[in-house]
Amino acid sequence: MTEATDGVLHTLFRTDQGGHEQVVLCQDRASGLKAVIAIHSTALGPALGGTRFYPYASEEEAVSDALNLARGMSYKNAMAGLDHGGGKAVIIGDPEQIKTEELLLAYGRFVASLGGRYVTACDVGTYVADMDVVARECRWTTGRSPENGGAGDSSVLTAFGVFQGMRASAQHLWGDPSLRGRKVGVAGVGKVGHHLVEHLLQDGAEVVVTDVREESVRRVLDRHPAVTAVPDTDALIRVEGLDIYAPCALGGALHDESVPVLTARIVCGAANNQLAHPGVEKDLADRGILYAPDYVVNAGGVIQVADELHGFDFERCRAKAAKIFDTTLAIFARAKEDGIPPAAAADRIAEHRMAEGRRS
Ligand SMILES: NC(=O)c1ccc[n+]([C@@H]2O[C@H](COP(=O)([O-])OP(=O)(O)OC[C@H]3O[C@@H](n4cnc5c(N)ncnc54)[C@H](O)[C@@H]3O)[C@@H](O)[C@H]2O)c1
Repeated sequence: MTEATDGVLHTLFRTDQGGHEQVVLCQDRASGLKAVIAIHSTALGPALGGTRFYPYASEEEAVSDALNLARGMSYKNAMAGLDHGGGKAVIIGDPEQIKTEELLLAYGRFVASLGGRYVTACDVGTYVADMDVVARECRWTTGRSPENGGAGDSSVLTAFGVFQGMRASAQHLWGDPSLRGRKVGVAGVGKVGHHLVEHLLQDGAEVVVTDVREESVRRVLDRHPAVTAVPDTDALIRVEGLDIYAPCALGGALHDESVPVLTARIVCGAANNQLAHPGVEKDLADRGILYAPDYVVNAGGVIQVADELHGFDFERCRAKAAKIFDTTLAIFARAKEDGIPPAAAADRIAEHRMAEGRRS
């Protein structure tokens, strides 16, 4: 066994990664495709999760990311009440440099070879138009364009779900789901963040935003003159009188430097993997900050892509995404009952559903 394969196998079978069912390494030399498909669990149904296209520094890093992301999808899908297990794929390389139709078609053939054990969709570096191409080779593809029978951009329902999670957080903390008069800081006003701002304004909240892209901030301020902006996330999390902080940019927003200075009483946002490392959920709880687990409140997008597999219906999806309100409340109740942070309570509930719902 070489050092490299030893490294991959070690990662795969590490128990703290959660005991994956299957990992497929894919190579198509003609198109330059190198991909990893990781299936964490099919206990609740076919594994569902997006395809990340990213220039990983090494193949080990790609495998490790695929394993982590696939496991995360099992929990997210279970909590969203979907009959899907968790899976994720990564394509190794810079999408700007190597993404071609030929490569995506080759990738589609690999996903098809799994016969429906894994259903793919968009993630960082892949878009609706890419899924249209993959779908030409693989029927187990979702997140396609409306012109090709898909549901299109999932950020509308993701933002709606995050808003429901925020209302539930307000209900739990202040006894009233309304955000009227509350000051909410949104970090990252991209696809999800700017839709979230609209929900917040409609509900009567005061909104402060920030984004590294000036044009994203400008777009929000031009449309909504009542919104104010601060230069960066560091300034946003220290805004005086901030009630809610919504991380809607990249992962890792909650860490040893940011948690001690947060002025908000609630953290609820769209970004994946907000907790930078294990233990941050406890630091938040110790400061009396209510954290709505990211994978619970940002499930609107996966609810949409799952629905697309059965013929997309926006109202049906919206009704499902609205249930994020009840799910979030149930997590807070369980956290209180068990004396644990909400992130740990969410994991317990998801694990229970996976164990109970296991298909024989
Ligand atoms: N789109 C979906 O349906 C969906 C579903 C689930 C989770 N998410 C997660 O939600 C987050 C946002 O997704 P999106 O689709 O809106 O992405 P996006 O790329 O459209 O928006 C992200 C925004 O964050 C900004 N940003 C990046 N770094 C920043 C920083 N350090 N400080 C402030 N702003 C910064 C970017 O400029 C961009 O405007 C991501 O973490 C994504 O993984 C999205």
